Amino acid sequence: MRIAILGAGKMGVWFAKFFLAEGYSVVVASRNKDKLSKLKSELAVETADFAEAVKGADRVLICVSISAFEEVVKTIAPSIRDGQMVMDICSIKKFPVDVMHKHIKRGLVLGTHPVFGPGSRGVEHKAFVLTPTNAAEQEFAEDFKDWLEQKQARVFVMSPERHDALMSVVLGMPHFLGLVTCDALLEQADYAETKKVAGTTYRMLFTLAEATALETPDLYATLQLNLPELEKLESCFIEKACEWLKLIQQKDPAAIARKMEQLKAKLMKANGEYTRSYDIMYKMLEATEN
Ligand SMILES: NC(=O)c1ccc[n+]([C@@H]2O[C@H](COP(=O)([O-])OP(=O)(O)OC[C@H]3O[C@@H](n4cnc5c(N)ncnc54)[C@H](OP(=O)(O)O)[C@@H]3O)[C@@H](O)[C@H]2O)c1
Repeated sequence: MRIAILGAGKMGVWFAKFFLAEGYSVVVASRNKDKLSKLKSELAVETADFAEAVKGADRVLICVSISAFEEVVKTIAPSIRDGQMVMDICSIKKFPVDVMHKHIKRGLVLGTHPVFGPGSRGVEHKAFVLTPTNAAEQEFAEDFKDWLEQKQARVFVMSPERHDALMSVVLGMPHFLGLVTCDALLEQADYAETKKVAGTTYRMLFTLAEATALETPDLYATLQLNLPELEKLESCFIEKACEWLKLIQQKDPAAIARKMEQLKAKLMKANGEYTRSYDIMYKMLEATEN
């Protein structure tokens, strides 16, 4: 099996290493020739331009930025033949799946989203979302799901629209929180000192803040601008923050306690079967907090 990886960025290199370790033959394509030479000196991969790379491949994995996605799909579309499988790994799904259907007239396409970053060690316990849109794609998605599950990945099959709605909460909201929190924390003159005395909860907070602030701006901007209803969710967060701030400004401990009790009851109802795991996590946090 020969796999073409299009894009030699962080995720492209991650998947090149992953498929090499799985014993596949890998060809990597990039617009950046220096990157390809360096990669060839470090890994047992072949290199080529985009159109050449797809020609001899059984599977094609598109790993370029979302902003470059349509341009790259247009470049490779004439070289795709029947029997080839073309997948993308974009963090949004409706847009790239529509683009692949629009331009790729032969072979089969499948939208995928590995919900983890390039720092991950493998796919064990990692989430993958697959977004087939017709029977042929569904059949391939089921096979791919089985293969990933044999490697202990957590695989979810759903429509591109459902994926994007979920990712507004799963990615868009934490990115927003992280960026705003980082902005607020850096207003404190003693930020470095606060990190030195950190307990578990603060460590979680500044880790999120720093991780988001240091991420690729292009990807984060694209997600903030393309995930559905995200602005509504973020506006809801601001409204809630104002509500909580007002309560605190009223200096009424009983009102704060009442609001927290209401929140706890809502959380129990929302979590259902997962409530216990949250209890355990909370106890772990308490145990490690000083
Ligand atoms: N990072 C994550 O945590 C993560 C997780 C899951 C999925 N993803 C998805 O993975 C994809 C790549 O993300 P990444 O983190 O690997 O980003 P990255 O490191 O910035 O890599 C982006 C790649 O896209 C290429 N590219 C950009 N513009 C191009 C253009 N006009 N023509 C051709 N190639 C172009 C870049 O080539 P050059 O090197 O020449 O600039 C590079 O190879 C994105 O679709 C993202 O949504 C990312």
